[in-house]
Amino acid sequence: MAWTYTLVLSALLAARCHAQQFPANFQFGAASAAYQVEGGWDADGKGESIWDRLVHTNKDAIAGGATGDIAADSYHLWREDVQMAAQLGLDFYRFSISWPRILPSGLANNISAAGVAYYNNLIDELLLHGIKPVVTMYHWDLPMKLQDLGGWTNPLISDWFESYAAVLYSLYADRVKTWITINEPIVVCDFNYNGGNYAPGIKEPVIAPYLCNKHLMIAHAKAYRLYEREYKHKYDGRISLANNALWIEPFKVPRDIELAELGMEHMIGRYAHPVFSKEGGWPEKIEKHMLELSLKQGYNSSRLPPFTEEEKKFVQGTADFFGFNYYTARQIRPAKAGENGTWFIDGSPELDAMLEVPPGATFGATDLIAILPRGLREMLQYLKKTYGDHEYLITENGYPGWKDMEDHVRIDFIRDHLEQLLIAIEEDNVTVSGYTYWSLLDNFEWVGGYGIRFGIYDVDFNDPKRTRTPRLSAKYYACVIDSNSYNVSLECTNSPSTAFSRTPTNGNVRNSFSVLVSVIMVALFFV
Ligand code: NOJ
Repeated sequence: MAWTYTLVLSALLAARCHAQQFPANFQFGAASAAYQVEGGWDADGKGESIWDRLVHTNKDAIAGGATGDIAADSYHLWREDVQMAAQLGLDFYRFSISWPRILPSGLANNISAAGVAYYNNLIDELLLHGIKPVVTMYHWDLPMKLQDLGGWTNPLISDWFESYAAVLYSLYADRVKTWITINEPIVVCDFNYNGGNYAPGIKEPVIAPYLCNKHLMIAHAKAYRLYEREYKHKYDGRISLANNALWIEPFKVPRDIELAELGMEHMIGRYAHPVFSKEGGWPEKIEKHMLELSLKQGYNSSRLPPFTEEEKKFVQGTADFFGFNYYTARQIRPAKAGENGTWFIDGSPELDAMLEVPPGATFGATDLIAILPRGLREMLQYLKKTYGDHEYLITENGYPGWKDMEDHVRIDFIRDHLEQLLIAIEEDNVTVSGYTYWSLLDNFEWVGGYGIRFGIYDVDFNDPKRTRTPRLSAKYYACVIDSNSYNVSLECTNSPSTAFSRTPTNGNVRNSFSVLVSVIMVALFFV
């Protein structure tokens, strides 16, 4: 009898411990982006980007009138960044290449030797420490010269992007095996042109977002197809984009279920369906909705430019995995007459809906990010249901904190999201290959300036040396990586080589639970 109890309890305990372990080949990383960390905005012949122009010409656009002119000075301190990544034990470091640092005019006629050398050094140093470089080609810093020609609203952007990608592959594809073409396309097209407060600072919410949407999908596909033709057989690398995945659920069920589906297609589908769906092209619901709306508004065709059959095929399947950034969630409901909100779809004619904060969500230093860890699991379930069994990679997830915050909040944030991720892997059978924490270090948080701190390394922006100091969460994340589990051991947490003084709450609870079960097992054995 005692043996039976013991065996059953051992099995339960083993299952529970196993449930907190990530698959053996799961990869952990951290991320940053060129404009947010590099500084050196005009160093060694770098060209001007749309963000350089915005921060220099419109001080009011950014909190505290901040700029990315120096930022975390990673242009000079990249070795320290790699040291930090090594200290954490990262499997990969995701960073972006600044288009105007490599091609000051945006076009391939002039390749900057200093720019090329900067990224060569960074890539080589990472590899020297056994850290894989994951490279984003475009994280929002378009060369100003190309913006002057219309930027993402000019169809030629896809050729410009393709030749930029060709330069990057020729320089770095021998060592970079994972590429992200474009970070958060919805920000590039929809957020920017709707609000007009992000670079390029143009407010034109009617036509521009949809032109941009289409051109961006073609640009991404051209970069993908180029690699497929010329580099895949040699280097066997992988390419995707990093979509912004805002989880939208109905405010009232069943009333708002259909609206929530439309919301998801509007926010994610327009950037994912053309690439990941079986049919290709725009999501059917969106195509229909935009045509009806455009006709009603007096246009004689849809504001959403159609794909030709040839374009659909060209774009379809241009990703080797599904990358997405997850930060926040909302509930959606129909708008009441004249209602207006803070999000770009709040009250806008596109959806005639309002977004509400889901119950249970919490906030850090910005009310734009309603934190809801369960949304990550729900997002993965949704993506799998909608686009099928792809390999999913969380390309960003991070806590918007402030300078001297109690960092256990960030530890709880990481742990709660990793827990949901693991449930999605184990219970929903979603293939997730890795998790990327945003960000390795504090940086220029776009219009939020330096007030919002995402880093697991603090950066002192008042210090000309831009001193970097690990936060508690850096040690926690190192322990997670080391143990391949979000439930890090007390030994790791208390290691004398670290400044950690607090064990994550759930870790304690779980450890006490394990001790309790062990005691019961031993007691039962002697019964
Ligand atoms: C996603 C963006 O990719 C990144 O640049 C930004 O800093 C984070 N969201 C946090 O807002």
